[in-house]
Amino acid sequence: MGTAESARIKIGILTSSDRASKGIYEDRSGPAIKEVLNEYLKSDWEPVYKVIPDDRETIESTLKEMSDDEQCCMIVTTGGTGPAPRDVMPEATEAVCEKMLPGFGEQMRSVSLQYVPTAILSRQTAGTRGKTLIVNLPGKPKAIRECLEAVFPAIPYCIDLIGGPFLEHNPEAIHVFRPKEK
Ligand code: MTE
Repeated sequence: MGTAESARIKIGILTSSDRASKGIYEDRSGPAIKEVLNEYLKSDWEPVYKVIPDDRETIESTLKEMSDDEQCCMIVTTGGTGPAPRDVMPEATEAVCEKMLPGFGEQMRSVSLQYVPTAILSRQTAGTRGKTLIVNLPGKPKAIRECLEAVFPAIPYCIDLIGGPFLEHNPEAIHVFRPKEK
């Protein structure tokens, strides 16, 4: 494998669900994240996909592995953002991040409330660990596009700012804002 291979853009897709991780049902949210990102991104990228139980230690160690070892420039999580006892994704995210970006959660909740009143129940957030942006999405497959569409315009510039790769987007699918073009 040459340098081109090792320099490939990696994006973590992490589904937190007790039932999907046990095979009680098939995960539909992780594949939905992949589908939306494929539409939005013109750059070649490689998914690093995992389905794990709603267990805080497992979530934290998987986020660290995807960031530190796999060197994903972004990790998009789904599930575990609500108020139920096993919903611990925001806590795990905050525990592994150096900086929180609360605007992501604010924007996603605000836009999501136009679709469903229970959007207020999601505690979804985002933050950075080293050169990795971590973004929480709710667990419902239909929430994936609704939320990514709301925050993606700021994601490539955020990854520029933390020293990640330059993500090229597909202007027919999504509008992206970079205050200073490189
Ligand atoms: N946001 C969007 N955009 N669309 C949705 O359907 N579902 C809500 C909310 N946010 C929803 C949404 C519901 S019903 C819940 S319980 C919370 O996300 C938390 O979901 P989670 O615990 O699966 O992460």
